[in-house]
Amino acid sequence: MLNEQQQTHLLVRFAREQLVPDVTSSDWQAFEQRLTQYLPALTNELSTVYGERADFLNFLAMLLKAAYQAWQERPNALKVQDAEHEHNPDWFSSEKMVGGVCYVDLFAGNLQGIIQKIPYFQELGLTYLHLMPLFKCPEGQSDGGYAVSSYREVNPSLGTIEDLRAVAQALKAAGITLVVDFIFNHTSNEHSWAQEAVKGNPHYQDFYYFFPDRRMPDAYDLTVREIFPDQHPGAFSQLEDGRWVWTTFNSFQWDLNYSNPATFTAMAEEMLFIANLGVDILRMDAVAFIWKQLGTDCENLPQAHALIRAFNAVARIAAPSLLFKSEAIVHPDKVVQYIAPNECQLSYNPLQMALLWNSLATREVNLLQQALERRHNLPAHTTWVNYVRCHDDIGWTFADEDAAEFGINGFFHRQFLNQFYVNRFAGSFARGVPFQDNPVTGDCRISGMCAALVGLEQHDPLAIERIMLLHSVALSSGGLPLIYLGDEVGTLNDYEFANDPHKAEDSRWVHRPQADAVRYEQRHDLASDAGKIFNRLLNLIQIRKNTPALGGTQLMSFNARNPHVLGYWRGAKERVLVLANFSEHAQGVSALTLSALPETVRDLVSQNSVTVVNGVKLAPYQFLWLSIPIST
Ligand code: GLC
Ligand code: GLC
Repeated sequence: MLNEQQQTHLLVRFAREQLVPDVTSSDWQAFEQRLTQYLPALTNELSTVYGERADFLNFLAMLLKAAYQAWQERPNALKVQDAEHEHNPDWFSSEKMVGGVCYVDLFAGNLQGIIQKIPYFQELGLTYLHLMPLFKCPEGQSDGGYAVSSYREVNPSLGTIEDLRAVAQALKAAGITLVVDFIFNHTSNEHSWAQEAVKGNPHYQDFYYFFPDRRMPDAYDLTVREIFPDQHPGAFSQLEDGRWVWTTFNSFQWDLNYSNPATFTAMAEEMLFIANLGVDILRMDAVAFIWKQLGTDCENLPQAHALIRAFNAVARIAAPSLLFKSEAIVHPDKVVQYIAPNECQLSYNPLQMALLWNSLATREVNLLQQALERRHNLPAHTTWVNYVRCHDDIGWTFADEDAAEFGINGFFHRQFLNQFYVNRFAGSFARGVPFQDNPVTGDCRISGMCAALVGLEQHDPLAIERIMLLHSVALSSGGLPLIYLGDEVGTLNDYEFANDPHKAEDSRWVHRPQADAVRYEQRHDLASDAGKIFNRLLNLIQIRKNTPALGGTQLMSFNARNPHVLGYWRGAKERVLVLANFSEHAQGVSALTLSALPETVRDLVSQNSVTVVNGVKLAPYQFLWLSIPIST
């Protein structure tokens, strides 16, 4: 048996033989150093998926060629950033980080428009900007750009690849990290690979899953989940020639076949191309679905993890500062499996998101408190992306086992939540819209802008308090807070989508409106809803940025001994105790519960000093960020 060092040596020698580099060039020397560090991991991951194949070494050689070429093409400015980030591997967990996400066209018209909006992003304090899918996609239906026709061309209505490079540079100069999607589970049916496959080119036929008849699709459909049942039942769509193709999402989104190593290499090349444009973080779309295996639900399979880790190793070798953010909207046990320094360094926190909305509906913090206690803390050098709303629906992805501990039946509770949020529950303040209401399974998810879901549409006097409360948790609980742009000025639902035939079927468009010019203009007018929300949010953002205790990820749960009050500690040296009231009635936290605190403490939010010896009282939906000085 070879020891580790010998293995590494052998692999690097293999790479040298394949790449025939100029070994005296500094480019090669830096690359070889990275190979020494990451090639063994890359080879290991790939061999668990493809190792049995006779052409494995050939495949590895092709991949290394692609990686070396991308490294040689990587702009110097990015190589400088690579070195900086390597020395500061936790930069993305800093309290200074605040994220925003928007559609390029809806928010700013096009990519040049995004550059013009930079002063606004800075005003809000953003240091991270996720631009929704902006690559070429079919006209008409494209699932909001999540059907990519070319990873090397920008959607012409948004601009060009040069514009995207300019956006990356301008954002960087403004201290803002650029995030774009890596939509690697599927391409659109208009991608040249798909078109070649339809024409019968065998090389590209292997990039997708085609079936001559229903035999295999029927077999798979027995165990896979329907993601968009409104669009098509099961996971397959029929082509004009009668064949079936795997389409987890829409009929025009064809799943890539990663059992073919050529697919992996091709997508690794696309990934490195995007990285070299100046993109810092890739939002890894639909990670759960990339590997299929008969008899399983075809989600979260071990090979999916091996492939993502392999992509990650390719990035470490050829685009070192590139990071991954996982989009796994699945059972919480599965969500965390994608989060690791060698897999996805960041991840959406769908559990916190769903449970924030749950607590708002039930006025009880039980499930949210339990999630913070058990499921929040993460391995070093990774973090959550905490959010209140995004471009997708709200799915109730809490664990039924967790809920059962409180005597809550997951199935019936989800039914309640769905009714509550679509205003079919007496007294509900929410004005959401059902998404993918599936009468067969009883499954349903919720669409709607934050403001509409908390009651701003019908001017509920407490709506703004609810907006602040939800965002306060995302900003303070540990991780990178991500604002769905529009929410910071209280943008409401847009029901116009129902008149557009390309959108009418997909209620998520209700929460994808054009930037509301009037609200943005009102943001400094404290008499307007927009102004009230914007100013209070800005205040919270600034406090976060000035409070190191709110950086990082880890927290310690604090039992406030009141079913309506959430509690947690942040920080190691200077500490912050967060208390948050999820009910529309005033709530108390007793003196005894707070007896470990000094007699008076300062609330960072109001800047008031709070006397805690007799307990504290929280107004409806009030939250306190209590700063506890270092005890010496
Ligand atoms: C992700 C996106 C969602 C899209 C799906 C298919 O889940 O967030 O909007 O429909 O992937 O690409
Ligand atoms: C499912 C998928 C998720 C996707 C969403 C879109 O929840 O798991 O990836 O974003 O559907 O609605």
